[in-house]
Amino acid sequence: MKTKRIGILTSGGDAPGMNAAIRAVVRTALHYQIKVFGFKHGYNGLLNKTIIELNHSSVANIIQRGGTILGTARSAEFKTHKGMEKAKKTIDKYNIDALVVIGGEGTMRGAHEFSKKFNVDVAGLPGTIDNDLFGTDITIGFDTAVNNALEAVDRIRDTASSLERLFFIEVMGRCAGFIGLAVGLAGGAEDVLIPETPTDIKALAKKINNNIKKGKLSNIVIVSEGDEAGNAFTIAAKIKSIINEDYRVAVLGYIQRGGAPTANDRILASKLGYAVVLGLMKKISGCMVGEIKNKIIFTPFEKTYTRKKKIDPDIYTIIKIFAE
Ligand code: F6P
Repeated sequence: MKTKRIGILTSGGDAPGMNAAIRAVVRTALHYQIKVFGFKHGYNGLLNKTIIELNHSSVANIIQRGGTILGTARSAEFKTHKGMEKAKKTIDKYNIDALVVIGGEGTMRGAHEFSKKFNVDVAGLPGTIDNDLFGTDITIGFDTAVNNALEAVDRIRDTASSLERLFFIEVMGRCAGFIGLAVGLAGGAEDVLIPETPTDIKALAKKINNNIKKGKLSNIVIVSEGDEAGNAFTIAAKIKSIINEDYRVAVLGYIQRGGAPTANDRILASKLGYAVVLGLMKKISGCMVGEIKNKIIFTPFEKTYTRKKKIDPDIYTIIKIFAE
């Protein structure tokens, strides 16, 4: 049977580029005479039947906007069998042939269970700043978050070098160090602490001490949230207890997630949004559409969140060498 009606939602933490992805899905679908219906606030939209038809102009002027015009949420009810039953009723009521979900790990997990248990055609797009989904080199939103964080690090560097002060800057990433590594390399950090590698507090203290002795004007340590040694405040206090050096902590938080998506995020979102519709027209579902080495790849939902995407160890090594 031909795909005639696609539903779309964004779920989990918003990521810059989600709007560009919505636009890509809508414009591609309309080109092929497929109607598109947006569900508001993630999977909750399926539960509450908050549905709007999206036409060509609904997605005008959004490619450059951060956040998501559909709103997003982390839905606890959707995780239950009853919640999914309710969602399935909405799918049937509006004759939705296939659903496109844009989000991170939790979104793909939900999509997998829902599609399997209720036999619904669902396809995913990777939308998270964390870049922690297996099945794509880069997730939509990652590049913008890295650039947002980098801008902040550059500004802090001015203060750090003027006052010759030690800074600990905490970046997002939940349990993954992708943002930390990218920001650390691009921002010339003195060290980067990420959840994927053990943090040696004594060695870090020694290194900072040596840097100060050598006359380094500023020392910036990037701390990925989720580091096993603690958050930036805890780690800073531990270092202070060893070397008694004055320091400041900056937690970048949500400024990383907002704002206009970079060109890279808009381009990735547009390519993946186009590919997901073409895939659904060929009845390819139960998977997330990503890009690996410039090729569009369809990865079964389960793999996207059960397989761990590995950090590039070379980047870690390079940061250490450059900071010697
Ligand atoms: O997954 C994106 C993310 O920004 C993570 O980096 C962060 O740990 C988390 O979301 C914060 O979630 P919330 O906005 O729900 O507090």
